[in-house]
Amino acid sequence: MITSNNPAWSKVVTTPATEFPLTPLFVLSGSIPPQLTGTLYRNGPARLERGGQTVGHWFDGDGAILAVHFAKGQATAVYRYVQTEGYQAETAAGRYLYANYGMRAPGGFWNNWLKGTKNSANTSVLSLDDRLLALWEGGKPHALDLHSLETKGIDNLSDTLQASFSAHPKIDPDTGEIYNFGVTLGKQVTLHVYRCHKTGKIIQQNSIKLSGCPLIHDFVLTQKYLVFLISPVRVNVISLLMGTKSVSDATEWQPQLGTQILICDRDTLSVVSRTTTEPWYQWHFTNGYVDQDGEIAIEFIRYADFATNQYFKEVAIGKTETAAQGRLWSMKINPQTGQVTASNPLLDRHCELPVVAPHQVAKPWRYSYFSTHGEGVIPEQELFNAIACFDRHTGNLTLADMGKNIYPSEPIYVSQPDNLERGWLITVVYDGNTHSSEVRIYHSDRLDEKPLCRLALPSTIPPSFHGTWKS
Ligand SMILES: [Fe+2]
Repeated sequence: MITSNNPAWSKVVTTPATEFPLTPLFVLSGSIPPQLTGTLYRNGPARLERGGQTVGHWFDGDGAILAVHFAKGQATAVYRYVQTEGYQAETAAGRYLYANYGMRAPGGFWNNWLKGTKNSANTSVLSLDDRLLALWEGGKPHALDLHSLETKGIDNLSDTLQASFSAHPKIDPDTGEIYNFGVTLGKQVTLHVYRCHKTGKIIQQNSIKLSGCPLIHDFVLTQKYLVFLISPVRVNVISLLMGTKSVSDATEWQPQLGTQILICDRDTLSVVSRTTTEPWYQWHFTNGYVDQDGEIAIEFIRYADFATNQYFKEVAIGKTETAAQGRLWSMKINPQTGQVTASNPLLDRHCELPVVAPHQVAKPWRYSYFSTHGEGVIPEQELFNAIACFDRHTGNLTLADMGKNIYPSEPIYVSQPDNLERGWLITVVYDGNTHSSEVRIYHSDRLDEKPLCRLALPSTIPPSFHGTWKS
């Protein structure tokens, strides 16, 4: 229920977003850097209500993708829902038909059992040479046209994809190879680890048995290893299979299990070590690499527990109250033993959606970029209203604080064509003061200066999860 006490982001989250065709963008201020050539893609839940019913969780929203094409100092944009089978069936019915992460299907046990879960295609994107993939961690990707965003259908990555394909693939900057994973239920829950050619074709995979049914959202790629940190959240599979609870409601925080550290060899995809350490929860990693001592150095956003899931559940109704603050955290791990050799918070503020420049994936890096809160914000009541750059060498933090009721998306780093170390940060901003959306471009090393360019979007874009840049 929307009331006048709701935050300024409430309306754009709870009102289904409106698609728009390819449209030239009006420059509100500044100018587009002439060297900026390529496309920004973003994916996020855009419809959280149908037929008067609200979804059970923010993660249940149907995915819509924004593409902003830049060339010769001009920009055009298109915004389209991913035409999944479930989205089309529910559109035709005028009501929700399927179970999802945070909601059960109507019709009790049989409907939940027979219909399965809707692929929301709402979490991230992977741009390949000939198609864009809309990703969702519980299922297979959907392929879309890179320019028009027309949905082509489920993509099996050259007919070899048997399980889900998570929303956090990692691309090796030197080879273009794509690493990713998926999790399947069954007699025993299995982690499927994939290595794909840059065309998307799966060329190697391994299956690793897991204990219980954890939630695994992201992982780390280094030069030698893949690192999975499996937090002590377990899904009660019986209540899930019986259809009595949604996935979200069937999750249980079991800190006594600790966090499992699972390290795989990057060449063979086989397990190198598997250990357990203290409990925490994380959604996202910034990056990782192998240091000069052979240890794995990683950075991620660490939460004390799984209250973050409740906060995201509340986002769907347009008002939040649960405190769940993640801290930027660094850790070192001995890959052979799995022992944690160093573990330190880096900042005393709530951060999320960390990224690095794409050419630094799996390598040492200096600058981490992420979303955070600006001054005077009550974190449990607000979405992020700032993007930030953290210098890991000096400890300096630079913010682009958008101000009250203005909400930027995850920042995406774009290298300048002639110098990878210099670049721009692009973010899609919802302005709750004017109920409008825009694209902002910043110098990556001058976030505290006003944006280089602000571009008006034809309609409001709700907060999105993840995106990418395609040169
Ligand atoms: Fe994510």
